[in-house]
Amino acid sequence: MRDTYYNMDCITGAKTYLPDAMVDLIITDPPFAIEGDQLHKLYNRKEEYVVEGYVEVSKEKYREFSFRWIEQAKRVLKDTGSMYIVSGWTNLLDILLAIEQNGLELINHMIWKYNFGVSTKHKFVTSHYHILYCRKKGNAEVKFNPYCRFGAEEKDSEGSSMLYCDLEDVWTIGRDFKKGRTKNRNQLPVELLMKMMLYSSDEDDLICDFFLGSFSTAKVARSLGRYSTGFEINGTAYDHQVGQISNIQRGWMLAGMRSNGGNPHFNQRKRWTKEETGNVMERYHNIKCTGVSDRQAYSILSQEFGRGYFSMMNIVKKSRR
Ligand SMILES: C[S@@+](CC[C@H](N)C(=O)[O-])C[C@H]1O[C@@H](n2cnc3c(N)ncnc32)[C@H](O)[C@@H]1O
Repeated sequence: MRDTYYNMDCITGAKTYLPDAMVDLIITDPPFAIEGDQLHKLYNRKEEYVVEGYVEVSKEKYREFSFRWIEQAKRVLKDTGSMYIVSGWTNLLDILLAIEQNGLELINHMIWKYNFGVSTKHKFVTSHYHILYCRKKGNAEVKFNPYCRFGAEEKDSEGSSMLYCDLEDVWTIGRDFKKGRTKNRNQLPVELLMKMMLYSSDEDDLICDFFLGSFSTAKVARSLGRYSTGFEINGTAYDHQVGQISNIQRGWMLAGMRSNGGNPHFNQRKRWTKEETGNVMERYHNIKCTGVSDRQAYSILSQEFGRGYFSMMNIVKKSRR
């Protein structure tokens, strides 16, 4: 089951292959019940690189379908586990009802603000998703790692707590650009998946995605030293993605986040200053000239400036806006 993926319907697949209470974390992004081939209109992009065969669920069946897959998700989840369901607002009612009727408890209701809505002249632009973060009802303590990305004392140059900001329930995360590369019709950004996984799982945990699509959950899980499993009914997407997983070196992203020269985050308690931000950005541009990826750059900056990987990512992204 660890790092095993099934080309089949998730409800049948879970019943057949997943035992009770085996999974530490579920992250999943079910189909949207968008009639016809309209999904690309939400994403404003060329279709030539999109994998064929995305399977939709009809609006009429969506409520029952949601109840049935969430019933299986609850069964396979550990008592200490949690689940993140990504949903558009059009199907939110069905998902919320399925959570309630299956006896799950909502821990948080996040808004994920993204940057790829399509402009319109007749109504407001949709630029958010809902992320429903839930657990099984009961007394077990659900796994949550509050300091996985920022230290308790870390403050930005305005004196605001970076940890508090990261823990707020509105997340602004843009999409990953994959110009000229094959992709699923919609694909969750690596940054979003990393955030959910780091807060809600540990290394070697098992993460399940009921709707793998382009296997982004599985790929990020492996990159963060976790194991994964899941289902994708579309044979074309499955065949295209499944072979790529074993090419990813398990835990490679963690190595970058930890490389603080054995002196982790020695500046973490100090407030950021404009001067330090300027120095970081100057160094960032110099490092990038050598051709390294952004992730490698954050890891080098983290080592040199004695602050966390995610602080570096935040500073660079804020300065670029
Ligand atoms: C919203 S996408 C998931 C995207 C994925 N999170 C990613 O980042 O690439 C939903 C996926 O569920 C698949 N799907 C639809 N019905 C399914 C079912 N009954 N069982 C398993 N997969 C299904 C679709 O083919 C589609 O690839």
